[in-house]
Amino acid sequence: MIRYEGSVMKASSDTLKHLWFPFTYYNDLEHSPPLIIEYGRGLYVYDKSGKGYLDAIGSWWVSILGHNHPEISEAIKKQLDKLEHVMMAGFVTEPAIELADKLISILPRGLNRIFYSDNGSTAVEVALKIALQYQALKGSQRSGFIAFSGAYHGDTLGAMSVGMIPHYHATFHARFKMQSFVNSPYCYRCPTGKESTTCKAECMDSLEQALADHGDTTAACIFEPMVQGAGGMRIYPEKVLKRVFALCRKYDVLTIADEVAMGFGRTGKMFACEHARETPDIMCLAKGITGGYLPLAATAVKEHIFDEFKGGFASDRIFHHGHTFTGNPLAAAAACATLDVLKREKIPESLKSKVDYFQKNLQHFNEFDIVGDIRSIGMIGALELVRDRQTKEPPPPESRLAYRICRKAIGLGLLLRPLGNVVYFVPPYIISEDEINNMFHIAKIAMHEALHETDATL
Ligand SMILES: Cc1ncc(COP(=O)(O)O)c(C=O)c1O
Repeated sequence: MIRYEGSVMKASSDTLKHLWFPFTYYNDLEHSPPLIIEYGRGLYVYDKSGKGYLDAIGSWWVSILGHNHPEISEAIKKQLDKLEHVMMAGFVTEPAIELADKLISILPRGLNRIFYSDNGSTAVEVALKIALQYQALKGSQRSGFIAFSGAYHGDTLGAMSVGMIPHYHATFHARFKMQSFVNSPYCYRCPTGKESTTCKAECMDSLEQALADHGDTTAACIFEPMVQGAGGMRIYPEKVLKRVFALCRKYDVLTIADEVAMGFGRTGKMFACEHARETPDIMCLAKGITGGYLPLAATAVKEHIFDEFKGGFASDRIFHHGHTFTGNPLAAAAACATLDVLKREKIPESLKSKVDYFQKNLQHFNEFDIVGDIRSIGMIGALELVRDRQTKEPPPPESRLAYRICRKAIGLGLLLRPLGNVVYFVPPYIISEDEINNMFHIAKIAMHEALHETDATL
């Protein structure tokens, strides 16, 4: 069990007067000020008083090997003694070269070139721009994108233009160009009313229609393979992913697989596209790539795409894109160490029995009437909350049920954060079976407590 030492360390409003927090209602800071976290070890982060919090969501899904991993820390320290940064135009560092080689050796066959940037959103921006310029270089007029309802690809303008989670995007969508959206592969609330076990991926009829209507002006189709993460961990079957690839091939549309969240073993395969045995034309990677240590992203492309960008001065065959910290050697060293650990520990294959245990025990949340759907893949478990299981009616927004559960959990030493009406678990892979029990146990107490408080509003 988690031990408590001292009192909880929270930031006072005076301390926060110059800070602007992401995805945070200002008024919530009054009753739920952020915890000041001092250090991390393995599965836990600790506040100044020494109270530990089991990081059940890997700090926004990045901490795949736990906090303060000795090998990753060591790799960064070693690199720090040599060089902190040099620009990657006219220069390059050994970690940046090594990382590209390591990535290519594990990526689906055919992805052969790596373009570095700093975060998931930029990995997506790079992918979209590569697709656009690739089409232009080929002399094609294709300039649109097809994306999915429920998708999240980041918060920069381009990445948002292919995202469709109204709560995040609506304000901005009304103010700049949106791309074209097709059905979300949302099995619990299937847009075509089918069952995921027996369906024939009919949700993707809408993709087929969109491709038939305007495939010839579409530069690429972008999707999150197997799981729409921020959309509420919407896990969909591999037949849907296979159909996405097959349709894009039929209409000669490039595929961009956004594996920012699902790459590096999260779904039980090293990359989620492997579930469909497919290689996208472009793949976006970030988050877990450095074990959650430093910001780094990679956009991987097939060689035939890169070939279009080969050229001499004044040919326009140059990719007009680059970030100041592209290929940063500290981040690249952290990523190399992370990939070394994954390889040595045979992750994700070696996680199989732990994943089975995690998924089996997740089912026990069935005891709560408010849990309408329990879904899991690899080391992801999600609970969609409802007011009524039969009708699948969501809890009233004002109850903020998932939010309250997560706040209760944090008070009990479990770091959770909701996605709309979904409470989910994306723990570091180092979690043990005992710690899985502990994580679910605390989450259940948090649910009981939150329900007790909110009963009247449900
Ligand atoms: C699938 C996907 N793509 C892109 C992003 C954006 O990544 P970042 O927050 O590093 O910009 C996220 C973030 O959650 C994501 O889940």
